[in-house]
Amino acid sequence: MKRLNWGMIGGGEGSQIGPAHRMGAQADGNFVLAAGALDHDAERGKDYAQRLGVAEDRAYGNWQEMLEGEKNRDDRIDLVTVATPNSTHFEITKSFLEAGFNVLCEKPMTMTVEEGEEIVKIAEATGKICAVNYCYSAYPMVREMRNMVANGDIGKVRLIVTSFSHGHHGDATDADNPRVRWRYDPAMAGVSGQFADCGIHAMHMASFVAGDEVRTLSADFASTIASRELEDDAMVSFRMERGTVGRLWTSSVAIGRQHGFDIQVFGETGGMKWFSEQPNQVLYTPVGGRTQIMEKGESGLSDEASRLSRVAIAHPEGFPMAVANIYVDLAAAIRGEPHGDYPKAVDGLRSMAAVHQAVASANEDGAWVDARPPMFRT
Ligand code: NAI
Repeated sequence: MKRLNWGMIGGGEGSQIGPAHRMGAQADGNFVLAAGALDHDAERGKDYAQRLGVAEDRAYGNWQEMLEGEKNRDDRIDLVTVATPNSTHFEITKSFLEAGFNVLCEKPMTMTVEEGEEIVKIAEATGKICAVNYCYSAYPMVREMRNMVANGDIGKVRLIVTSFSHGHHGDATDADNPRVRWRYDPAMAGVSGQFADCGIHAMHMASFVAGDEVRTLSADFASTIASRELEDDAMVSFRMERGTVGRLWTSSVAIGRQHGFDIQVFGETGGMKWFSEQPNQVLYTPVGGRTQIMEKGESGLSDEASRLSRVAIAHPEGFPMAVANIYVDLAAAIRGEPHGDYPKAVDGLRSMAAVHQAVASANEDGAWVDARPPMFRT
């Protein structure tokens, strides 16, 4: 099968998320890195792209040059990944979609709800793929949980409790470090700090596993380090369309917690728990029964969990392979083949609405507000 040409914007040398995309996109032989504008520093970006195997004429100094250079090529890129800082996502994603490219955008997809609606509309109008990298939803055992919920294995879902709380910005003496500071500066980060950065992964996960959407929410935001203008800790209660109760805690000052992302789903006839630091396992407890450890790669899992597992039982795969699972389905979608689910622009839009509505709620002492984007309010 012919490999697809892949381009990357951002994710330069030393970036946090760049390596996971490169490992993920190229893991299954579907994509080859053909073009890149990898760094805010043009020369560093060109140099690094070439060291990664990109031809000199497709190692671009910035994304505008890349758009110009790629759009009229016969072998132009089939997919571009946007892995730059948040405030640039909208403009880059919009420009590439409008030029007829498929896009995988990092989260948060945009900074405002209006921008999110615009991206959804452009993706619809152009018929191009616009995916958003909610990659945790692509872990095999997360797919297993979703499948069990859909099968009714735990009955109607009553309650979801999820947290994405780490302690890596908990040192007040480090608060002025430029790599930390921007995240709590409204001029750089927008209206929300920790909720927009990590909380939206947890909220997307709740919706994904439940097969439902968040309808209303009430938020309590706190800046526990006084110099911060944006929240470094948030508790968000929510209700889903089918009545499921949600509790979400996100924090960056929870010293001692590392990645700190977990989800528990409690239904009428059972409960389940998954923790990102032990992603191969789901704990499942039927009502009145003992807790069972379900393991990636074991027999009897759903087709979806089996399809997205690569190595044998008990061998860790981990984060880059969850990202790879997003690329597997994007490759199939680009080739017009049957494919599984992947997070889309509409998920990015729902997150943006939730962020802005959580800020509004927090500013009104936790008043309950409609969490949905205006285009989905009926
Ligand atoms: P980072 O600061 O570590 O790296 C950003 C990279 O983008 C750098 O190489 C920088 O030179 C480059 N860059 C900046 N402006 C650029 C421009 N205009 N054109 C081309 N390159 C540019 O940032 P990090 O942590 O890798 O985050 C990038 C994005 O990925 C963010 O939106 C973040 O929210 C998201 N992210 C998502 C994760 C996930 O689990 N899905 C995990 C970590 C980050």
